[in-house]
Amino acid sequence: MRNEFLVYGSPAIEEEEIAEVVDSLRSGWIGTGPKVGLFEQEFKNYVGAEYAVAVSSCTAALHLSMIVSGIGQGDEVITTPMTFCATANAILHTGAVPVFVDIDPETMNIDPELVKKAINNRTKAILPVHFAGRPCDMKSLLRISKDYGLHLIEDGAHAIEASCETGKVGSIGDLSCFSFYVTKNVVTAEGGMITTNRKDWADKLKIYALHGMSRDAWKRYSDDGFRHYQVLVPGFKYNMTDLQASLGIHQLRRINKTLARRNEIWEQYSYEFRDLNVITPTKPPPGVVHARHLYTILVDENSVGCHRDTFQERMQRNNIGTGIHYTALHLQPYYKDRFNHRKGDFPSAEYISERTLSLPLGPKMTDRDVSDVIKAVKKCSH
Ligand SMILES: Cc1ncc(COP(=O)(O)O)c(C=O)c1O
Repeated sequence: MRNEFLVYGSPAIEEEEIAEVVDSLRSGWIGTGPKVGLFEQEFKNYVGAEYAVAVSSCTAALHLSMIVSGIGQGDEVITTPMTFCATANAILHTGAVPVFVDIDPETMNIDPELVKKAINNRTKAILPVHFAGRPCDMKSLLRISKDYGLHLIEDGAHAIEASCETGKVGSIGDLSCFSFYVTKNVVTAEGGMITTNRKDWADKLKIYALHGMSRDAWKRYSDDGFRHYQVLVPGFKYNMTDLQASLGIHQLRRINKTLARRNEIWEQYSYEFRDLNVITPTKPPPGVVHARHLYTILVDENSVGCHRDTFQERMQRNNIGTGIHYTALHLQPYYKDRFNHRKGDFPSAEYISERTLSLPLGPKMTDRDVSDVIKAVKKCSH
């Protein structure tokens, strides 16, 4: 057994990021500035969208996306229960209601056929989550959103690198939201990005992200001289800082390398676990790029002999940190009580919710770390 605890989702921070942060600190420009602009530019080029707006988190990105697309009181937004609470919380914060539909248990992504059935005259948008980094069936979701005149807003928190037959995640929907939280594929400690091809929305996003103030308010203390601003709408304080962008710029430039390492670990896990009684993730069809954010095994008590939570405790005792993504959101107390949800409402999401366990998967992992995870899984599944 390893001596040191392997922390789940520990980020790989390299010297370039550290030097860039120090450069910002020395320059005195630590708020929103030119590095945020550069990060936005490089991010939009990477995903192939017209515009990218950097914000303080993906939660902020989701909230602003709801607002600029006009979602509010009385509206419904269709989403998945197999997600982090931020996805549905963002809908609620506008006064709208999240309507959950079940997932396809193979892909763990929202099932487009069930989306169709949930549409009514209050539905304003579909908010799919590319779970674990596997892109949703965007071809079907795009068709549905066009047929019914709905906005398609992507939660790409897990899926910066993902692409599918309809294109790169971040360039398909009307708005796409990304996370740079500590455990994510690109890390800025906290941070998020919204991409869109609509200039009017990109402009609105910038204004709403900074108090609702007019035009580049962050420039108001620059050496161009003081600029007056006008408050156009009651906005939020959701801007990203140059300290965060300093991390993001270098993390993004290294994205192919870090994805390649996670791919390597992924393949190794799948090979080593092939004969175990835990269930490994299904392969996406050819042509699909999976962003390899979460490697989730399913621990079924009937075949493994213990509940997932016991399995997780055993992994912990073997010094391996793991995660659970997620307890199905409709079963969380707030959602359960407010929307009167019951066990059995979304059987596929509940099946995953009861069994899923995320193993460490990150570019910082050494070969030794990977082999320790493999050994621990083999030991715990007997
Ligand atoms: C699917 C999903 N959506 C949204 C978020 C929120 O991201 P952030 O922590 O950047 O606000 C997360 C973060 O874990 C997530 O996993």
